[in-house]
Amino acid sequence: MTLRVNDLKVYYQTLRGDVHALDGVTFDLADGEIMGLAGESGCGKTTLGKSLIRLDSRMKHVGGTIELDGKNVPIADEKAMVPLRYHEISLIPQYAMSALNPTRKIGRMIKDLMKARGVDPASIEDELHRRLELVGLEQDVLNRFPIELSGGMKQRVVMVISTLLNPSLLIADEVTSALDVSTQRAVAESMVEFRDRGFVKSMVFVTHDLSLVYQMADTIMVMYAGHVVEKASAKTIVNEPKHPYTQMLISALPEVGSTEEQGRLEGIPGKPPGLLDPPTGCRFKDRCPLAFSKCSERPPLVEIEPGHWAACWKTG
Ligand SMILES: Nc1ncnc2c1ncn2[C@@H]1O[C@H](COP(=O)(O)OP(=O)(O)O)[C@@H](O)[C@H]1O
Ligand code: SF4
Ligand SMILES: [Mg+2]
Repeated sequence: MTLRVNDLKVYYQTLRGDVHALDGVTFDLADGEIMGLAGESGCGKTTLGKSLIRLDSRMKHVGGTIELDGKNVPIADEKAMVPLRYHEISLIPQYAMSALNPTRKIGRMIKDLMKARGVDPASIEDELHRRLELVGLEQDVLNRFPIELSGGMKQRVVMVISTLLNPSLLIADEVTSALDVSTQRAVAESMVEFRDRGFVKSMVFVTHDLSLVYQMADTIMVMYAGHVVEKASAKTIVNEPKHPYTQMLISALPEVGSTEEQGRLEGIPGKPPGLLDPPTGCRFKDRCPLAFSKCSERPPLVEIEPGHWAACWKTG
C-alpha cells in the first residue's frame, strides 16, 4: 500500500465564505508506515482524515489528488468511493466512542454495520472473536450495551470494528484523547500490533499529543493552519525538528517523567489563524520568532534531507 496525496485542497462552504481547511497538502505514506499527524486544534487534521473516506455535505474538493497504490481515489464521487470505504480505507472518527448507538448491543451493532458495508456478518464471525480476544476483550462484550463498557473497552471495540475488513489504510482520529494515560498506551500498542499482524497495512494516527505518538509512530507529520509544515521520522521530528513551529511544539512537551499537564500544546503563546480568510505566505509568520520579509510568500515543502520535508524559508 502506498498513499500519495498531492496538493490537496478541501474547503468547508459556509455562509461567511470558504474555510480553507486543507490548502495544498502534499505527503506520501509508505507501505507499513504508521504516521503520527500532529498540530494544534483547528489545523486540519480531522478534515484530512475525513477527506480520505467521506466528504460531508459542506466539504468541497477544490483541487489536488489522492492516489492509493497508483490508483486515483475519487473523493468527490460518492458512488465511486463506496467500494473503497472500510474495505481499502477505514476511519476511526474523532469521538467515535461516544457515537456508539446506546440502544444497540455491541454484537447487534456490528452485524448491522457489516450488512451496511455489504458483508455477510457470518463470514467475519470467527475473525471477530479472534480479534476481540487479541485486544483483551471477553466475547461477552457482544451482549452488552455501550454504556456497560469503560472508555478503553469501547475504544477497543471501535478499533476492532474499523479494521475487521483488513483495510490497507486506517486513519485513527484522536482515538486516545479521552482515555487515561495507561489506557492510552495500551490502545496505542494494540494499534501497532494490528499493523504488525497485517490487519491494516499503514496507519495515520491523528493526535495533538506528540509524546504518545513518538512511542508508536515511524514518522510524524506536523500541520499548521491547513498546511503541512514538516514531515520526517519520529526520531528526527522529536530530536532535530527544523521548522520553527515544530521546534515550539517539541520544546513545549513536558520533560520525560513529568506528570504535569503544563507544557502541552497550550504552552505555545498565541493561536493559529482562522481559515475563513487565512493570511498569505507562511501561515505561521505572526507567531514565528524568525519571520522576515520573505515569509509573506508561501514557503514550498522541500526535502531538506532524505525523508525529511519542511516548509520554511529558513530551513531550505
Ligand atoms: N463543518 C465545518 N464547517 C466549517 N468549518 C469547519 C468545519 N469543520 C472544521 N472546520 C474548520 O476547519 C479547520 C480545520 O478543522 P479540523 O480539521 O477539525 O482541525 P483539527 O482536527 O486539526 O482540530 C478549522 O479552522 C475549523 O474551524
Ligand atoms: S517561513 Fe518564515 S515565518 Fe514561516 S516558519 Fe519559516 S521563518 Fe517562520
Ligand atoms: Mg480534529
